[in-house]
Amino acid sequence: MLQDNYGRQFRYLRLSVTEACNYRCNYCLPDGYQQEGRPSFLSLTEIRKIASAFAQAGIDKIRITGGEPSIRKDLPQIIEAVKATPGIKTVALTTNGHRMEKYLDDWVAAGLDRLNVSIDSFDPRMFNSITGHDALESILRALDKACATSIGTIKVNTVLMRQYNLREFEDFLSWIKDRPITLRMIELMETGDNKQFFHDNHVAANELESSLISRGWQRQIRAKSAGPAKEYFHPDFDGRIGFIAPYSKDFCSSCNRLRVSSLGKLHLCLFGEEGYELRPYLDDPEKLIHYIHQVLGLKLPTHYLQEHQSGATKHLAMLGG
Ligand code: 5AD
Ligand code: SF4
Repeated sequence: MLQDNYGRQFRYLRLSVTEACNYRCNYCLPDGYQQEGRPSFLSLTEIRKIASAFAQAGIDKIRITGGEPSIRKDLPQIIEAVKATPGIKTVALTTNGHRMEKYLDDWVAAGLDRLNVSIDSFDPRMFNSITGHDALESILRALDKACATSIGTIKVNTVLMRQYNLREFEDFLSWIKDRPITLRMIELMETGDNKQFFHDNHVAANELESSLISRGWQRQIRAKSAGPAKEYFHPDFDGRIGFIAPYSKDFCSSCNRLRVSSLGKLHLCLFGEEGYELRPYLDDPEKLIHYIHQVLGLKLPTHYLQEHQSGATKHLAMLGG
């Protein structure tokens, strides 16, 4: 079992398979993805070796992230490879949904268990102004299709922004009235590239949480291993609301995840200073597992976002959120 010096246990790995993204989300890649040099993203063979080592170390859930993972033509093969790894029980995918209508069936056939889709607005024009794409309707169609597949509860991620989608909060609620979807409101996080935008747009989740509580929403008690999201339910709603509030007290004490970048580096935190190269160890599983344990000993108790230190993270497309 992977455990750090503060007693936190890790069964969940977020594995980024590319830094590239076709969207230009205003808080992440406002000018689109700019390739620097000739990055070499993890190959399918490397992904197999990494998944296998982490599974042997005690990881049982792997989420495939990007950038936008569906940019990779071999995404179905990646899903299949991770799913076939002994010890991995759950394969999840986080996507912006742009290619979902076309490829959802392939992902499900490859063994996908869980799906998170990012949707920052339910108004097509606002969606376009946030992401640079006119794709909302296709994404919503694909989501309804996904609800009818073997994939369990689908989660929709929405980054809260004061000057953009905050005024849509009531529409978000109506959207989950009759849909069994967990809508997760993510607090905007400051990264190296978005400082002014963060200053203008950050909304603290507790502003909205108190409004929900006053309207009869109740906090879901969750397992100790559940990770940092807080969830609320309401008897009149099929869907749920979750909050990811990295600026709240104690957020890091429930950290249950590790990250590997598409360049093959192990990251102990989204906002850490460095990643640890796994590539030199890939051909020796024993050494690789030993190295993962050793690096985990360096994990700090918390991030320093409150002090506006976002580490080396220029934008979250580098690490998949
Ligand atoms: N703050 C909060 N969430 C972010 N994401 C990307 N950048 C940021 C940021 N600066 C989100 C995406 C997606 C998830 C993978 O990470 O919108 O929902
Ligand atoms: Fe792409 Fe996700 Fe960044 Fe949007 S938030 S630009 S979809 S990586």
